[in-house]
Amino acid sequence: MALLNSAGRYGAMAKLFHWTVFLIFVNQYVTGSVMMRLGKGQAFLGYSGGELYTWHKSAGVVVLAVVLLRIVWRKTTPLPDWAETLEDWERAVTKWVERFLYVCMILMPVSGYVFTMAGGYRFKLFGVVELPVLIEKNASLAAVGEWSHLIIGYMIVIALTLHIGLGLKHHLVNKDRFLNRMLPFTKQ
Ligand code: HEM
Ligand code: HEM
Repeated sequence: MALLNSAGRYGAMAKLFHWTVFLIFVNQYVTGSVMMRLGKGQAFLGYSGGELYTWHKSAGVVVLAVVLLRIVWRKTTPLPDWAETLEDWERAVTKWVERFLYVCMILMPVSGYVFTMAGGYRFKLFGVVELPVLIEKNASLAAVGEWSHLIIGYMIVIALTLHIGLGLKHHLVNKDRFLNRMLPFTKQ
């Protein structure tokens, strides 16, 4: 599989970035929702609330690093041509949804970090490495971080519904193998 994108489909690097971020996002939504609803002394699959928080925050920092690399990759390598089967309005929607998702992929971990640090909570990356404290305790900033994190979290779900819905509609209804452009180990 070619590393770079070709005219007709995405290359291995773009796919690796796309599906790595997807898997970490699934992890974030599961751990985020569970940890916030876990009562004192309760565990989820053997993990305490505290362990889930550390895991959630650490994986969130990792995804920020991956997204920054992904943006560099996208900006420095050519994109494939548009799928021929996409209508003009679908191209416009795709363009804006993708831009919005990139902004959210940055804002989501940043807001989580701001909330955590401004809230005066400290954490070690995967329980091992102490992160630099770039923000001192500040209650109003913590509230902004927390609310942004929650609201952007819901906005991402809406954007992804459009993104995935459009892909599935083309693949299953129009039967144009649209998803093969991004799925690994498939032929266009
Ligand atoms: C966290 C979840 C997801 C995010 C943030 C996301 C984001 C993106 C972005 C930004 C692109 C543009 C290419 C790039 O810059 O890499 C893209 C392309 C694509 N995504 Fe996703 N995606 C997600 C999940 C999914 C899922 C679950 C599917 C399949 C059901 C999917 C199918 C596709 C396809 C087929 C393309 C290529 C579209 C085209 O040919 O223009 N994505 N995605
Ligand atoms: C892309 C990365 C991230 C995603 C998708 C994400 C997603 C989520 C979700 C879905 C929730 C639960 C919201 C709810 O159930 O209402 C949550 C909560 C939370 N997240 Fe994240 N998160 C990310 C990164 C981070 C990072 C990097 C940190 C901290 C360094 C963080 C800290 C928190 C905290 C502290 C909560 C609990 C909020 C509260 O108590 O109100 N998150 N996150």
